[in-house]
Amino acid sequence: MKPFIAALPKVELHLHIEGTLEPELMFALAQRNGIQLPYADVAALRAAYDFHNLQSFLDLYYQGAAVLQTEQDFFDLTWAYLSRCQAQHVVHTEIFFDPQTHLARGIKMGTVIAGIRAALAQAEQQWGISSCLILCFLRHLSQEEAQATLDAAMPYLEQIQGVGLDSSELGNPPAKFTQVFDRARALGLKVVAHAGEEGPASYIWEALDRLQVCRIDHGVRASDDETLMTRLIEEQIPLTVCPLSNTRLKVFDKMADHNLLQLLERDLCVTLNSDDPAYFGGYLQENFEAVAKDLRASREQLRQLALNAVQASWLPLSRKKTLIAEILTLP
Ligand code: HPA
Ligand code: ZN
Repeated sequence: MKPFIAALPKVELHLHIEGTLEPELMFALAQRNGIQLPYADVAALRAAYDFHNLQSFLDLYYQGAAVLQTEQDFFDLTWAYLSRCQAQHVVHTEIFFDPQTHLARGIKMGTVIAGIRAALAQAEQQWGISSCLILCFLRHLSQEEAQATLDAAMPYLEQIQGVGLDSSELGNPPAKFTQVFDRARALGLKVVAHAGEEGPASYIWEALDRLQVCRIDHGVRASDDETLMTRLIEEQIPLTVCPLSNTRLKVFDKMADHNLLQLLERDLCVTLNSDDPAYFGGYLQENFEAVAKDLRASREQLRQLALNAVQASWLPLSRKKTLIAEILTLP
C-alpha cells in the first residue's frame, strides 16, 4: 500500500506550522538566536514528547516556538515542511499559524507572515505546491485578545485566506469567539475551528451555528451525537482528522480504536492530516500508512480520503477537477 499512498496526490488541511519544528531545527535556531533550551540535546527533547493529553503537548509546543524570532527563522521552518510536502507528493496545503504565540514575545505580525509567505511562494514556483494561510486564534486567551490579533493582521489580509481556532479546547467553547468570527467573515475570510478533539459534540454544534465554519478541525467526537452526524453528512461538512495526533494525545488509546473509518463509511467528508508532525511521529504519508496498517483501510478508502481533501480544500474548481481525475485514475 505504501507505493499507492506515495503516488496519491495529497492535500493537507490541518497543519500547524509551529508543529513542524523538528528538534534538530529547534536546536539550530536556539543556537542562532542565543537561546538556552531546557534540554541537553535532541534526544532529551524527543524523550520529552510523551504526552497524556492536549495540554501536556501544548505546553511543550509553545515553549519550542520561542526559538522562532526572525523572518529567516519562519522561512526556514516553513521551507523544511514544504520540502517534506515535495518528498511526499503533497500538492496543496492549507497551513495554520499561531501569531499570538509570537506577538506575545515581541515578534511583529509582519515578520511572521513575511517569512512564511516567502517559503510558500518559493515552493509554488519551484515545485508547483499551492497553499493557503490560516491565522489561528488561541482559545485559552480572550476574545478581546483575538480582536487585537485580527487588528494586527489587517495590513496583511491579502496574504491570509482564513481564520481558525486552536489551543486548549475544554472550557473554551467556540461561542466565546462569536464576534471576532463575525468580523473575520465580514472581511471575506473563510473560517474554520478545532472542535470535538477533546471537547464534546456540543462544541461542534457551536462551531457550526455560532461561528459558521466551513470545516471542523478534528471533529471525531461527532460520533457521540447522531443528530449531529446526520447534519454533517447531509451538509457534507468536512472533518480534518489527524490520526497520529489523536493517538499521541490519547484522544484514542490506540490507532486500532480510531473511529475515522466508521465516520467515512457513513459518508462523512473525512480527510487525513498531520496536525503537528514534528511532535506526533509523522507527516501526511505516515498518517495514511498508519490508517492502512492499523485500521486496515482498503485502497478505495484511502482514495476516498484523498478525494475528500481535494473537495474540502479552498482550491479553485478547475484545479480540484484535475486532481480528482488524477486520484481516480491512479491504479
Ligand atoms: N489542538 C488544539 N490546538 C493545537 C493543536 C491541536 O491539535 N495543535 C496545535 N495547536
Ligand atoms: Zn490542530
